[in-house]
Amino acid sequence: MARKSRPTGDPKMSMSRRTFLSAPAALAATGLMPGPLLAAVAAETPGMPDLSSWEAVRAQFALDPSLLHFASFYIASHPAPVREAIEGYRRAMDRNPFHVVEHGMFGDDAQNLPLQVQREAAAYLGGNPEEVCLTGNTTTGLALVYQGLPLERGDEVLTTVHDHYSHHESIRLATERAGASMRKIALFDDSASAGTDAIIERLLEAIGPRTRVVGLTWVHSSTGIRLPIREISAALRRRGGRPLLLVVDGVHGLGSVDETIATMGCDYFCAGTHKWMFAPRGTGLVWASAENWARLRPIIPSFTDLGQYEAWLEDREPSTPTNANRMSPGGFHAYEHQWAMAAAFRMHQRIGRDRVAARIAALNTQCKAGLAQNPKVKLHTPASADLSAGLVVFEVEGVAPASVVEQLLAKGIIASTSPYAVTYARLAPSLVNTPEQVDQAVRAVREISG
Ligand SMILES: Cc1ncc(COP(=O)(O)O)c(C=O)c1O
Repeated sequence: MARKSRPTGDPKMSMSRRTFLSAPAALAATGLMPGPLLAAVAAETPGMPDLSSWEAVRAQFALDPSLLHFASFYIASHPAPVREAIEGYRRAMDRNPFHVVEHGMFGDDAQNLPLQVQREAAAYLGGNPEEVCLTGNTTTGLALVYQGLPLERGDEVLTTVHDHYSHHESIRLATERAGASMRKIALFDDSASAGTDAIIERLLEAIGPRTRVVGLTWVHSSTGIRLPIREISAALRRRGGRPLLLVVDGVHGLGSVDETIATMGCDYFCAGTHKWMFAPRGTGLVWASAENWARLRPIIPSFTDLGQYEAWLEDREPSTPTNANRMSPGGFHAYEHQWAMAAAFRMHQRIGRDRVAARIAALNTQCKAGLAQNPKVKLHTPASADLSAGLVVFEVEGVAPASVVEQLLAKGIIASTSPYAVTYARLAPSLVNTPEQVDQAVRAVREISG
């Protein structure tokens, strides 16, 4: 466990991280002083490869080439820069786990590896490093936020019928504990023809006197629709009255849409980074402003908030407000995965958030246009790229979704079904696919539909 070298919760991160207590000579002898640690990992890890063409990007993945992978949004295949970063940290930790973790976790700013991750993530999100809470996945982020909210008996969380199990259950468990309630509404009857104004109208109409929190999903894995979160947030703020908190499950938008997430209008943005971001499996984040972090009550002891640790040492309550680090679940983790998140954010930045989004939009538009030619296919995802992202959700007349997926697999195409009460088939064209592969998938669906 750390000494007084724990990272601070100071919002400005003007560190009071203190120097490690061991004698410098002893550390130097390990060859793993933090500077050297980072330098050693960097020296063993090739720099960012050429990512200027889509072929070069696709070459970073070790995916089975005998299959067409249209379910990459489910869980990431680690691209080479991420694999190499994981390997670099793993080798360093296997050589000297104590010093690497002691420095990497509890060292000053220059050595602190979660801070490096927070910086890379913040640059991508358009926020500040101290606003980024590192988690293990979307589910954990949602649970931390809802359990952390100061819900009172009688309060209501308004959500929708369209959200994922992890989101609904996070709300149910938190409201049950607080004596609050949850209510689900439909934002549209038909996802494919839903429009921004009608969605906003339904949401505003449903807000009741007890509603304190609104929980939404950015890109729905049930139908592929992408909610206009920016416009929804603006409408919620315009309506006046007691301000509501907007919690967003953003997992299928992060890494697929060109958005500056910190300015999108979410109060809490929760996402796994092990899907579209291609960060290591078992990684995720929550973004919120300092003001919104301060509203929450942590439920898991943090290992990255000095204020909380110092308070414990002095046997008192923490005197500073809750911050992102205090909300980040402590205990030791698979650090090679968490630290290698930074490589995934760097890779996205290197390719360009706008180029990534444009490529995903083009492949998905092509896929939808191809399927739309098929009279036996009903698309549930809006045709508009503004109201969709990387998921194409559809039904084939007379063929059960599970059978569509099975028959596609028999043709070497990996698709998936949506894990909801009403289930559909899904193709998710992403950076690992080519336009030719999209045509192949569309042709395969035509063969299945007969
Ligand atoms: C909309 C949505 N939210 C949350 C999750 C759960 O994500 P995680 O595995 O990061 O907890 C999923 C899973 O794919 C999802 O589709």
